Amino acid sequence: MAEELNISEEVTKVNRAKIYRELTPQIEALISGESNLVANLSNVAAALKSTFGFLWVGFYWKDSETELVLGPFQGPIACTRIRKGKGVCGSSWEQAKTLIVENVDEFPGHIACSSDSKSEIVIPIFNGSEVVGVLDVDADKLNDFGKDDAVALEKICQLISKTL
Ligand code: SME
Repeated sequence: MAEELNISEEVTKVNRAKIYRELTPQIEALISGESNLVANLSNVAAALKSTFGFLWVGFYWKDSETELVLGPFQGPIACTRIRKGKGVCGSSWEQAKTLIVENVDEFPGHIACSSDSKSEIVIPIFNGSEVVGVLDVDADKLNDFGKDDAVALEKICQLISKTL
């Protein structure tokens, strides 16, 4: 396993898709030989946070039929539990789909863990057909996430699913 990530150029919003193309195989190499979930989620959070400098990158994992609990993350401290259907994370879990929120203040029921968070993307993680957790990424800029992020982060979540 490589001990550091290898990214060829400075990351900007414009080249983000290219950077995801460089980063994703490195994430695959990092996690594909390891079956420990905490280790893998920790490294994925660190890889995304250190590469893109997002405000917050982390996981909420299914703790019961009705609740997610905070998992490995990078960034400011965050709320510990989220109920199904609540906030962006609980909604992504319930709907089993990626949610992009351009302005968190306009998302009904958004759970504000940090007042610096302005936009957010949440991707469900599947084990077979069941959602078992979500990847949550927050930015300190409005409208920071789009289709490129959704496609790349869904691919990364599929790599996590393969380790389950
Ligand atoms: N904003 C999320 C809560 C988690 S924090 O952003 C880390 C939500 O509405 O589900």
